[in-house]
Amino acid sequence: MLEHKLLTERIDRINPLSIDDYLQAGGYEMLKKAIGMERIAIIEEIEKSKLRGRGGAAFPAHIKLMGIAKEEETVRYVVCNADEGEPGNFKDRYLMEHDPHQMIEGMVIAAYATRATKGYIYLRGEYDTAHSILSWTLDEARKHNYLGENILGSGFDFDIEIRSGAGSYVCGEEFALIESIEGKPGRTRVKPPFPTQVGLYGKPTLINNVETFSNFPHILRMGGEAFADIGTDSSSGTKLVSLSGNVANPGVYEVPFGVPIRDVIEKLGGGTADGRKIKMVQLGGASGPIIPEYMLDLTIDFDRFENFDSKTGAGAIIVMDERVDVFDVLKRIGEFFEHESCGKCTPCREGNLQLLKLVERFVERRASEKDLLNIETLSRVMHQTSLCGLGQSAPTAIFSTLQYFRDHYIDVIEHPQS
Ligand SMILES: Cc1cc2nc3c(=O)[nH]c(=O)nc-3n(C[C@H](O)[C@H](O)[C@H](O)COP(=O)(O)O)c2cc1C
Ligand code: SF4
Repeated sequence: MLEHKLLTERIDRINPLSIDDYLQAGGYEMLKKAIGMERIAIIEEIEKSKLRGRGGAAFPAHIKLMGIAKEEETVRYVVCNADEGEPGNFKDRYLMEHDPHQMIEGMVIAAYATRATKGYIYLRGEYDTAHSILSWTLDEARKHNYLGENILGSGFDFDIEIRSGAGSYVCGEEFALIESIEGKPGRTRVKPPFPTQVGLYGKPTLINNVETFSNFPHILRMGGEAFADIGTDSSSGTKLVSLSGNVANPGVYEVPFGVPIRDVIEKLGGGTADGRKIKMVQLGGASGPIIPEYMLDLTIDFDRFENFDSKTGAGAIIVMDERVDVFDVLKRIGEFFEHESCGKCTPCREGNLQLLKLVERFVERRASEKDLLNIETLSRVMHQTSLCGLGQSAPTAIFSTLQYFRDHYIDVIEHPQS
């Protein structure tokens, strides 16, 4: 079986608004188990699972947990990053709308393990349905004492509040997100210190993605080692993939790491909707690489994706057929980043604007060799000197097309529009 339903196993079997359904399907049993465990033992189990963050950076989950657990502050926060602002990604929304208690259970387990006192869900502003479902879910969890004071008689107090974003992509970046929750403009901070040391309101803060938290109950249920057996050596467990573009069956699919991208597109997605040839695929979302059809046997694996100098853990696969022009795609991506740059640092603020102008010269087929050189140099400077991941990854699609679709650039230079 290509699919491996771990996080999505209950979906369509339970009513997401019914806590009874969740309980009957084994829900909150792992929270009960966690409360009976030594806190350090919970973190050790996560370490054995080799779980890496699913929000994009693929950072080992246990290192952040351990980092907070050993801080001396008495006030600590747990924040779920549910901003999901990158075009092409919709798997977090799927999890929140279809099995919301799973993520809440994961957050409470993480809070218990780190002695956190308060939690936040930073939710993408446009996700109205998810907002309603999560509000209801939190109320139900409170009524059953899985949240609130003295959870399950353990003496542990923890509650969660939802904060809505306002449609800014950079607010998914962890420090911009923290600033936004604090009521300030969403702009990153210089690291270090990291959020686990000095985070929300200056206190140690654990920030993880929706999918990351959703894995926690499964790791406690299966045991870390069994979890690590799923997937590959460098990427354990399953990955939720947001499949879109020209595919017959777009949607969210859960597969073990190590599956070829081609299988996801052809066997799960049913290939292109109209039988056209695939020209290229963008991985991860707007900030990910664009690869040609002949590379689709590449497997879904954090380390493989890092070869592109990009951390494409969010898991979007956007399929484009032979009708799509490389430069039209780059222009749209360029417009997105130019619009979303927060303006705090020069390489990103000015770089995205200039990059867009250069790409437009290729769209209009009036680019010169010097434009090509400038695109390459500027992309490298932005990647190396931007303050946060937005500016650093904005040129990733360009880098990949320079590598795999270089003939398109040369063709424009050699055959300008008269
Ligand atoms: C511009 C930008 C946007 C991001 N957006 C998101 C997002 O929407 N959701 C998310 O989980 N992580 C996002 N991230 C990554 C977060 O900064 C952070 O690494 C992540 O929330 C950590 O959770 P994880 O370890 O579970 O992946 C973004 C990063 C950048 C640079
Ligand atoms: S890289 Fe872009 S989004 Fe990030 S701080 Fe600099 S200007 Fe803002």
